[in-house]
Amino acid sequence: MNTPNKIGLARGLTNYGDADFSLYLRRTFAKQAGYSNDMTNRPVVGIAQSASGFNPCHRNFPEIIEAIKRGVIAAGGLPLDFPTISLGETFLNPTSMKYRNLMSMDVEEMIRAQPMDAVVLLGGCDKTVPAQLMGAASADMPAIQLVVGPMLPMPYQGERLGACTDCRRFWGKFRAGEITREAIDEVEGKLAATAGTCAVMGTASTMASIAEAIGMSLPGTAAIPAVHSDRLRAAEASGRRAVELAFTPIRPSEIITERSVENALRVLLSIGGSTNALIHLTAIAGRLGIKVSLERLNTLSDETPVLVDLKPTGEHYMSDLHAAGGLGAVLRELRPLLNLDCMTVTGETLEERLAHESTWVDRAVVRSFAEPITPQGGLVSLFGTLAPNGAILKRSAADPRLFERTGRAVVFSSLADLAERIDLPDLDVTPDDFLVLQNAGPKSAAAMPEAGYLPIPLKLARAGVKDMVRISDARMSGTAYGTIVLHVSPEAAIGGPLAVVRNGDMIRMSVATRRLDLLVDEAELQLRRAALPPQPAAPRRGFSRLYAQSTLQAEEGCDFDFLRG
Ligand code: FES
Repeated sequence: MNTPNKIGLARGLTNYGDADFSLYLRRTFAKQAGYSNDMTNRPVVGIAQSASGFNPCHRNFPEIIEAIKRGVIAAGGLPLDFPTISLGETFLNPTSMKYRNLMSMDVEEMIRAQPMDAVVLLGGCDKTVPAQLMGAASADMPAIQLVVGPMLPMPYQGERLGACTDCRRFWGKFRAGEITREAIDEVEGKLAATAGTCAVMGTASTMASIAEAIGMSLPGTAAIPAVHSDRLRAAEASGRRAVELAFTPIRPSEIITERSVENALRVLLSIGGSTNALIHLTAIAGRLGIKVSLERLNTLSDETPVLVDLKPTGEHYMSDLHAAGGLGAVLRELRPLLNLDCMTVTGETLEERLAHESTWVDRAVVRSFAEPITPQGGLVSLFGTLAPNGAILKRSAADPRLFERTGRAVVFSSLADLAERIDLPDLDVTPDDFLVLQNAGPKSAAAMPEAGYLPIPLKLARAGVKDMVRISDARMSGTAYGTIVLHVSPEAAIGGPLAVVRNGDMIRMSVATRRLDLLVDEAELQLRRAALPPQPAAPRRGFSRLYAQSTLQAEEGCDFDFLRG
């Protein structure tokens, strides 16, 4: 029915048994939308947009969509936007992570099922860009990623505030009794004051940077603030480029390759990016059959310096990175380490892109390769008897004095147990102990929440303790900081070693040797394993059942097993 040279509305006809009638009918309903023949004969650019009343980060989407459409029309295309699931990070229970794969399926299927020649993916909040890139990689239709951009930090009593590192900082002060209820309530209205994604190098900013580094976004667009007019020009340019893309052979599968994924990992390490981004990048790459190895991550991390001084590991905000030269400034510094032959969505290789960029850079925000913030990358994988398949530590956000330690485990069996006991005055805990959280991994009922940032027990926080070793199979917000070991795999809920840790066990962590070991006899561990309760039955119906049955572990990106390439 559909020949490959069909474009626009003639693609992928609805099946009524008569192709000519199907096209006639489709054009009839396009006319219902008020389009002229000139418009209905054009190539179609879909705009996968994730605006939602439950996603305030995306609240300026209407003007961005208008700018994309302007670019598409100017380049001779017909822009048609369509809604997909939107994942507002703080509005989903139990966690947005549970629904990332669902959104990716929505994006993939709607790109495939609707008649379009190219698609602009418009997202921003943490899980939306990963879901869009996963879906686009699977659909393998010409695609260009556009992010909404970061929010602006706001002045407050002589300093600047921006979600969400400052959310945690102020909440920590409140818990420690350093500020009043009135003060924390006042700050609540200052932390997220404009449209856009979290203002620091959290997951959204990291994924925006990765989308540009891997070649799926236009150069220079990752860090443009959401409310800056440059963002609208980036939208217009993305719309224009999408029309051109429709007539090129450039597909996500030609852009997202083993070599460009490695570039993205380098950038992740050099920007002190979010641990979540490692899971998302693994899932995106996995859609095209590309494996991200945690061992390889360690090699890259040893070679790749941290260059970007943004919160939560540094001082600045994402809007400062834009003013300092944007991601291009980082890519230029990393040049000797990058695979420069990688294709980008512009049709240029990374080398060609970097050849004609401005060389302006503010060294307060983006350091030189020769004088980095730290000579090694921000993330490191740990392996050992507690994490046979790996765990992650964001060393750039951690206290190096805690890196080589043996500590006594203080175990919480679930999030509910943690909430119930962490602040009890008689909790048996010292600053030298390791806090351990079980049953917060991908297959748990909690669906891998950002709960790895276990709070410092109240009595220790009030005594001035700012950091402790914390270990879990959960994730951590990209805006958080501390000596926090995450993504322990296999997770407790499927009987991984984390499930058999008991109060008082000794755990040895060595960042230098990349080890995380539970110092308990194998005979004792066998007894404990035999005594573990049976796995709970999968939910009876709906998406929760699919999620429970098909979600993979962190080192496979927590994708569904049947969606991998
Ligand atoms: Fe949307 Fe942080 S809540 S990016």
